[in-house]
Amino acid sequence: MSAATASGPHPSRPGGVDRRDLLKLLAVTPVAPVAAQWAAAAPAAADPAGALAAPGIAKPLPPELFTIRGTNAETAPGAFAGTGGLTPADRFFVRNHTSTPRLGESEWRLTVWGDGLSGGPVRFTYGQLRSMPSVTRTAFLECAGNGRDYYATQQGQSVTGTPWTLGAIGVARWRGVRLADVLRRAGISGQAVDVMPRGLDDAYVTGGVSFGRPRRPLPVAKAMDDVILAYEMNGEPLPYDHGFPVRVVAPAWVGIASIKWLGDIEVSATPLSSPWTTQSYRLFGAAYPPEGSAPLTRQTIKSMFECPPGAVFAPGRTHHLTGRSWSAAAAVRTVEVSTDGGAHWRRARLRDTPHRDTWVRWSADWRPRHDGPAVLLARATDARGNTQPLTSVHNTQGYLFDAVVRHRVTVG
Ligand code: MTE
Repeated sequence: MSAATASGPHPSRPGGVDRRDLLKLLAVTPVAPVAAQWAAAAPAAADPAGALAAPGIAKPLPPELFTIRGTNAETAPGAFAGTGGLTPADRFFVRNHTSTPRLGESEWRLTVWGDGLSGGPVRFTYGQLRSMPSVTRTAFLECAGNGRDYYATQQGQSVTGTPWTLGAIGVARWRGVRLADVLRRAGISGQAVDVMPRGLDDAYVTGGVSFGRPRRPLPVAKAMDDVILAYEMNGEPLPYDHGFPVRVVAPAWVGIASIKWLGDIEVSATPLSSPWTTQSYRLFGAAYPPEGSAPLTRQTIKSMFECPPGAVFAPGRTHHLTGRSWSAAAAVRTVEVSTDGGAHWRRARLRDTPHRDTWVRWSADWRPRHDGPAVLLARATDARGNTQPLTSVHNTQGYLFDAVVRHRVTVG
């Protein structure tokens, strides 16, 4: 396959490539002719200031901002306080199946290919994407397993997977091109049903079995709707850990839909699947059929307090409690707060105008009277009438926790 790409603003079709050859090439060594020129994934450097290092994460992970969980870094409880509506990149959670590759934009190519195109494969350079009309969108990115730990600690149920508390979420202002524009330029046909973006990070191997590179199909309806191929996060080029040079951002969908370090997109006239739709990111358990639920699409509804669990509040004084709530289905409409373990509820003050795909910050004053443990609760309701329940329906992989979290603090 020729690695040559047109130097003008238009994407190029690599000449003389038979589709079967291309499929073979992509299956065995995905976009190898280009990827081979890039530096291999670099191990995270130890930070001179003593910040923690997770294997394979490039940015510093100071313990006051992050909890390391295997190859991942969760934004620490309390680290959202005072951050405003957007989560700064230096405290945005990282979910890596393997490790962060340090790619260069000049060698980077995006290959769009598959039998859902009316012609052959099409390649885009970074410059070509940057020269296309851009869109900017504020959206949360949240791991499907955010809140998973509460299945165990709050509901006494066992689940597998990274035991995230509530820090596997961040909101950023993403800038990039619409995936729909890229697919149109590549010649998407009326026959296309699924598109599958794939990352350039290493293959994910678990239990001795290789899943291949992270990839997950999106239905054409979502791909042509609000998905963007982002190259900027909060006004800066994407950091290495968040997908530099280009990542998918699929607003409101589970984080796995937002493939980082994008290398190629298969456009298919028949439905696609990957281990990230067949084995993980669907719901298994007593409440679901034996083959599991349909693959996960949209995220759910949640609330968090900004004070860390275990925070200490002086009795007899008024404290300003702050937090944030979000829902994937619609803008948040109301947030209720309880400071007595759920016996009484009152409305929190919303500090932002609620919008879809992002969170709303809220506050409530609290004047505790007696020393001792206290349980704070926050419950969101969105504009479609979805309200956080008191218990989440269990699934074995602990996805989509939506229940009200019991936030334990101390008065004293
Ligand atoms: N894309 C690639 N290529 N590799 C990955 O490991 N992790 C996914 C998604 N995209 C992943 C990926 C998951 S599970 C999540 S939750 C988000 O990226 C996390 O994005 P972030 O690390 O920028 O916060």
